[in-house]
Amino acid sequence: MTKIIDGKAIANEIKQEIKKDVAKLEQEYGKKPTLAVILVGNDGASEVYVRMKKKTSEELGINSLQITLDESTTQSELLKLIHELNSDTNVNGILVQLPLPSHIDENIIINAIDPIKDVDGFHPINLGKLVIGSDDSFVSCTPYGCQELIVRNVPDLKGKHLVIVGRSNIVGKPLANIMLQKNERANCIVTICHTATSDIGYYTRQADILVVAVGKANMITKNMVKPGAVVIDVGINRIDDLHNPGKTKLVGDVKFDEVSEIASAITPVPGGVGPMTIVMLMKNTVKAFRLQNKI
Ligand code: GUN
Repeated sequence: MTKIIDGKAIANEIKQEIKKDVAKLEQEYGKKPTLAVILVGNDGASEVYVRMKKKTSEELGINSLQITLDESTTQSELLKLIHELNSDTNVNGILVQLPLPSHIDENIIINAIDPIKDVDGFHPINLGKLVIGSDDSFVSCTPYGCQELIVRNVPDLKGKHLVIVGRSNIVGKPLANIMLQKNERANCIVTICHTATSDIGYYTRQADILVVAVGKANMITKNMVKPGAVVIDVGINRIDDLHNPGKTKLVGDVKFDEVSEIASAITPVPGGVGPMTIVMLMKNTVKAFRLQNKI
């Protein structure tokens, strides 16, 4: 029987742990973590994500500071705000919602965030620490959530073959580095497939654990998966719903109906990786609070 991995239920379990942790911190130290989220402009999807981050923060007892700036905000105005938040000891985590308007250079903005407040884990210092395996850093939320789902569904990770399809800076590359580390939550053999891989199926068929993060609807078919593999689908694609003319639906990068016939466990879309991402952001915010207060 294939297990459908319930990302929402796992995210809820982790939320309860964080909630307790935050209450304990407040009791012991008289203060609680604060997350600042900056939104520039009015991209519809970003507005939804930022609202969800605020709602989850509040649910867990984390202070939420939401700063919404006009689309016309200049790069230097945004940098000034980041510098102010960097030096504000009441702010523990800073997240600038991406994408930014095209007149602002995302790399310059990411590099300006103090690495000890970079709860997105996008700063080169945090990425470098991830490669080395240093613990006082932040792992970006989507690969961190994938690791949590893998750990909970693969009993002994040592020597397992993890194949990742997609080499983005946000998912593929950090996940490969996380799962390569020599510890009990990783220790995998890691292969990354990308746009220059001529026969992706040749590699994916060797995967004990398959993670797909490419943004191509239904790309991974049954004949590309080893029977018994654990499959984690990071893709979120909106396509026409053939059963409901004029309507659309969300699907992943994995052809769920057929791959779920042979996988031992698989994440659905929606309801798999998605709910994990925000929860890992909250975990990072609590970690930032601890690091900054040397707790
Ligand atoms: N936009 C879409 N996903 C993310 C994310 O994980 N972090 C930030 N900062 N922006 C995003």
